[in-house]
Amino acid sequence: MITLALSKGRILKDTLPLLAKLGIVPTEDLDKTRKLIIPTTRDDVQLLVVRATDVPVYVAHGGADMGVVGKDVLMEQGGDNQFELLDLAIARCKLMVAAPVNHQRQSHRLRVATKYVNVAQDYFASKGEQVDLIKLYGSMELAPLVGMADCIVDLVDTGNTLKANGLEPTEHIVDISSRLVVNSMAYKRQYNEIQSLVDALADAVADLNKE
Ligand code: ATP
Ligand code: PRP
Repeated sequence: MITLALSKGRILKDTLPLLAKLGIVPTEDLDKTRKLIIPTTRDDVQLLVVRATDVPVYVAHGGADMGVVGKDVLMEQGGDNQFELLDLAIARCKLMVAAPVNHQRQSHRLRVATKYVNVAQDYFASKGEQVDLIKLYGSMELAPLVGMADCIVDLVDTGNTLKANGLEPTEHIVDISSRLVVNSMAYKRQYNEIQSLVDALADAVADLNKE
């Protein structure tokens, strides 16, 4: 049996069509079920549906053999005891710095609101800039609007959220997509089973990108 941890929300939605190409379809209605371990149409694969930030934790501790998680989460948290095996090219977006439209460069140290404090710290340090970081867990766009921060570091896709809040992207940090990770011990123990799943997923990614 292979246990695959999926991030709730948009990653889950984008992962299901890839899994379907491998004949892996949840046997429960994911919108309705209260079950946390989800059987699939393949009796060698079961799914865990967890918070995005918990996926690398389940994989690190062997609660899941494999996981699907955003590169943003992996960069921010790191992933102990796991390898990143495949770029699934889903849930694509960019990690960016954004600030109010027509903002003036401040003379004081930049105040940066973000949930990605480690990534932001490294990014500004790589530019030789010391900043004050404010850790938030969501709705980062609000912080500059209420005068709490000069800018934010957040994910941007269409740019609609920034626009709706009078913000604009100012710096591109890195492109983001979801990655397939595998627990290093599980990879050794079940190499053939896991590798055949990885190969099939790589084909499914290539197929979906052709369509
Ligand atoms: P949590 O439940 O842990 O708070 P979350 O609310 O951040 O998670 P989502 O917003 O569904 O969960 O984001 C999960 C992942 O989806 C992110 O880590 C990122 O990789 C990707 N993602 C987030 N926002 C976008 C977006 N606008 N476009 C494309 N992908 C995105
Ligand atoms: C993400 C991200 C931005 C938004 C960007 O939030 O944190 O707020 O998407 O997408 P856009 O450029 O297409 O507007 P999400 O919608 O996942 O909400 P949450 O993180 O606050 O739950």
